[in-house]
Amino acid sequence: MSSKPSHNTPAKPGAMATMMEWVDERFPLTETIEYHASKYWAPKNFNFWYYFGILASVVLVNQLVTGIWLTMSYVPSGAGAFASVEYIMRDVEYGWLLRYLHSTGASAFFVVVYLHMFRALAYGSYKKPRELLWLLGMAIFVVLMAEGFFGYLLPWGNMSFWAAQVIVSLVGAIPLIGPDMMEWVRGDFLISEITLNRFFALHVIALPLVLVALVFLHIVALHHVGSNNPDGVEIKKNKDENGIPKDGIAFHPYYTVHDIQATVVFLFLFCAIVFFAPEMGGFFLEKPNFEEANPVKTPEHIVPVWYYLPFYAMLRAATFPLFGLDAKFWGLVVMAGAIIVPMALPWLDKSPVKSMRYKGRLSKFMLGLFVFSFFVLGYLGYVPSTSGRTIAAQVFTMLYFSYFVLMPWYSRVEQTKEVPDRVTMR
Ligand code: HEM
Repeated sequence: MSSKPSHNTPAKPGAMATMMEWVDERFPLTETIEYHASKYWAPKNFNFWYYFGILASVVLVNQLVTGIWLTMSYVPSGAGAFASVEYIMRDVEYGWLLRYLHSTGASAFFVVVYLHMFRALAYGSYKKPRELLWLLGMAIFVVLMAEGFFGYLLPWGNMSFWAAQVIVSLVGAIPLIGPDMMEWVRGDFLISEITLNRFFALHVIALPLVLVALVFLHIVALHHVGSNNPDGVEIKKNKDENGIPKDGIAFHPYYTVHDIQATVVFLFLFCAIVFFAPEMGGFFLEKPNFEEANPVKTPEHIVPVWYYLPFYAMLRAATFPLFGLDAKFWGLVVMAGAIIVPMALPWLDKSPVKSMRYKGRLSKFMLGLFVFSFFVLGYLGYVPSTSGRTIAAQVFTMLYFSYFVLMPWYSRVEQTKEVPDRVTMR
């Protein structure tokens, strides 16, 4: 008799389907793929600003992979660190590429994360029900800043040394416990190989683990509440008879393809910088860092890498003692405050609408002023301070904080526009 299946016998599942079935009985693979991709209903009106989450993920992977390879040749010791970076650049095959991918990746990380955060401010993505998503994002931001800071000491260049010296010495300004704490952080009486070793441990293992865990939680939180969109309309409020949001489309394949496009464009730009301008005129790799750390030779002008500049300007803006505590301490308070104050946004924003599209003039003006202040502070952090620039830094620090502090007022009193029921395609 022939063994051909008749019309009534169901076709045998293929090898792939059998394997998936086997896995699914033991691990929720199909369920996970559906929940996070093929049945994750994302708003259909995502625009340019929605590229930066995926781009941040791409840069994260780049940093992890190139970081692991750099660690294979890097030597975390006072005598070996600087020389090992030179060795990577000259002797290790494609070592120069690994290093430039990593150093450019650090700057790219901050570019995409700042744009990603701006999008959240513009579309009110921090508002209910995304408060935890926002807080997890803020935790990522703080860890990212620490990760960048610890990594910067590793090449053991002269700017690495002095930047660490300046920032660690801030700890010494904390009343009572400051001086002891500063010694504890450094592990020595000055920045030394001991400090280098602990920064290395934190940079290559502790913080990357925390970062990856936080990004995972960030995505879990996002997929639990669902994405916001440029209109700030909750698409889950408008579902069809199958329970699918009418304004939602499956993340896979629609947004996976859309994000691949953005990733390719981004990688073109990124590679152009890696190959043709990795130092970016001293902004990505600073000139004094091509000289080995020298505790008796202070660089003429100590400046942090560009992404810390606005916060550095706010640190320097505190110039007078208050309540018996010196200016340095207040600088630390202002800088730390500037970094963490966005955490309060979900509770400061009293507006009935989420997106800037429907907020009033005051909110638009304040967001514009905030961004402008951030750029001006960045400039002021870069140039040597003069009395005029210090006053400017004080004024712009106030403007930076006013965006947050005045928000409960201006977001409540202004006239907002009516939000449509369904998303719009502009
Ligand atoms: C390693 C860094 C980060 C990665 C890999 C990451 C990843 C992502 C991804 C993939 C998305 C969904 C796609 C998108 O909306 O663009 C997203 C959404 C979001 N992220 Fe992040 N993120 C990071 C850092 C941050 C930071 C620092 C914040 C804010 C402090 C933040 C706040 C948000 C918010 C509020 C959303 C939802 C936006 C919306 O639905 O409108 N993220 N993130």
